[in-house]
Amino acid sequence: MNIEQIFVNNKNWITNRLKVDEHYFENLSKGQNPDILYIGCSDSRVTAEDLMGVQPGDVFVHRNIANMVPNTDLSAMSVINYAVSHLKVNHVVVCGHYYCGGVKAAMQSADLGILNPWLRNIRDVYRIHRQELDAIADDEARYKRLVELNVQEQCVNVLKTADVQRAYRERKITVHGWVFDIHSGKLIDLKINFGEVLDQIREIYHLD
Ligand code: CO
Repeated sequence: MNIEQIFVNNKNWITNRLKVDEHYFENLSKGQNPDILYIGCSDSRVTAEDLMGVQPGDVFVHRNIANMVPNTDLSAMSVINYAVSHLKVNHVVVCGHYYCGGVKAAMQSADLGILNPWLRNIRDVYRIHRQELDAIADDEARYKRLVELNVQEQCVNVLKTADVQRAYRERKITVHGWVFDIHSGKLIDLKINFGEVLDQIREIYHLD
């Protein structure tokens, strides 16, 4: 990758945007009012805006390795707080993806240094769903299912945050679990039944 090319690209991008709307950047600078918070993986193949076909200003984005929402992670918690309680988004999306290196690494026993405590969160997901996952004989199918279950558990982590709990009481906010299939380019809605999932954990976490 030629870094200088990036600045050439940027100039072209500005020209093209201004061709369509001469006030484009002027209007962007006035502020943001996104309706969606997207939490996805840092993977270079899983671009947030591109795969959703949305424009700057449409989506508030947070990305980290394996789209995790650990409740002690200051970065993820700050993003959720700002998006839900200040920007007042009505949708929170956790988007995982098949062929996720983070999820794959968590299924192996290699020592990955600083990544160990981060990936341990995915191993916890495996532990919670061990019965279902161990019953899947095919390695690829089990890996894909762990990607999906990780999305589900991170959605539960989103639902457990004080900001989302408060937003639930005050207005309509929806949490979505999605998976991006790199092999086909398809975005898949896992259609997770959060009512059912939350029923199982409500008493433990004292959720509304
Ligand atoms: Co990934």
